[in-house]
Amino acid sequence: MPFLRSLGLLLTLLQLVAAQYCSFWNTGCIDSLAQTAVRFDLDPLFTDPVTLYYSFDASHSGKGEGPMTKTAFWLGYPSNNVNKNAVDSNRTSEIGLRIGNMTGTPSGSNNGCDGIWGSDCSRDFKSALQRSMYLLAISGEYYSKPLEVALSQMLKKPPSLPSCPPPILDVASIPVQDFAREHVPGQNVTLMPPGSGAWPWQVWYLDGMNASKQASQVAVGIISRAPSYNSSPPDSPDDIMVDLVCLQAPSGGSSKGSHD
Ligand SMILES: *[C@@H]1O[C@H](CO)[C@@H](O)[C@H](O)[C@H]1NC(C)=O
Ligand SMILES: *[C@@H]1O[C@H](CO)[C@@H](O)[C@H](O)[C@H]1NC(C)=O
Ligand SMILES: *[C@@H]1O[C@H](CO)[C@@H](O)[C@H](O)[C@H]1NC(C)=O
Ligand SMILES: *[C@@H]1O[C@H](CO)[C@@H](O)[C@H](O)[C@H]1NC(C)=O
Repeated sequence: MPFLRSLGLLLTLLQLVAAQYCSFWNTGCIDSLAQTAVRFDLDPLFTDPVTLYYSFDASHSGKGEGPMTKTAFWLGYPSNNVNKNAVDSNRTSEIGLRIGNMTGTPSGSNNGCDGIWGSDCSRDFKSALQRSMYLLAISGEYYSKPLEVALSQMLKKPPSLPSCPPPILDVASIPVQDFAREHVPGQNVTLMPPGSGAWPWQVWYLDGMNASKQASQVAVGIISRAPSYNSSPPDSPDDIMVDLVCLQAPSGGSSKGSHD
C-alpha cells in the first residue's frame, strides 16, 4: 500500500513542521534565523562546561515601521550534574545578555570578550558588577535577582568605566534570567530546566534592527553567582562571581557556529 505509507510519511512531516514553527510574535519559542552556541566553564557549581545559546529571528516589516529582530537566549547543561559540594551558603546564579550599539568579533580571554574591548575593560566591568552586588547584599534591602538589580542600576546611572568603550552600557535593556538557587542547610540546588528553541529563557524585540545588522553585533553574556537575600553578607566583592562570554551570530543566516 504505497499510497497509505506515503500519506503516513506526509502526516509525520507536517507534524514535525508544526512542532518547529514559531511565529515572530510568539514570545514562548523562537524559530531561529541564526543561532550560536558557546561552551564555557561555570565552576564550581557545574563540573562540566555549560553552553550558552544565542538565537535571533528577523522581520522585514516589524510592526509596520521598519525592520525588527527577535532575540532569545538560554543555557544548556545536564540537570543532574550539579556539584553539591560547592553549596556552602544561599546563593543565586543569573545570566543576562547585552545586545546593541556594539559590534565586533569575539577572541581572546574572558570567553572572547577581551578581543572586543581589551582585558582592562573586562576586569573593570566585572569589578563594577561585583561592587554593585556587594553593596546590595550588605544594604539589607530586599532583592530577589541581584544581577538584574545591579544591571538596571548601571543602565540608569552608568558607573565610570574609562577602560571600556563608551557604548558598553548604551542599551535599552539587558534581560536577565535566574537559573540556580543554592540553599543551606541541605546543600540543595533549585535549577532552571535547560532551555531550547521551543522553550527559550528570555525573548525580546529590537526595533529598527535587521538581520545583517544584528549579525554584526556582539552579544555579551553576563553571568553571576551572588549571595541571596537570606544569606550572610559576603566578606568582600571578590566573594561574588562574575563571568563574561562574548559571542556573535553566524552572518550566513541559518548555520550554527561555536567557539571555545
Ligand atoms: C542604542 O543607543 C541608543 C541611544 O542611546 C538607544 O536609544 C538604543 O535603544 C540603543 N540600542 C539598543 C538595541 O538598545
Ligand atoms: C530542595 O528544595 C526543594 C524546593 O525548595 C524541596 O522541594 C526539596 O525537598 C529539597 N530537597 C532537599 C534534599 O532538601
Ligand atoms: C540593515 O540596516 C542597515 C543599517 O540600518 C542598512 O545599512 C542595511 O542596508 C540594512 N540591510 C537590509 C538587508 O535591509
Ligand atoms: C539560607 O536560607 C534559609 C531560608 O531559605 C535560612 O533558613 C538559612 O538560615 C540561610 N542560611 C544562611 C547561611 O544564611
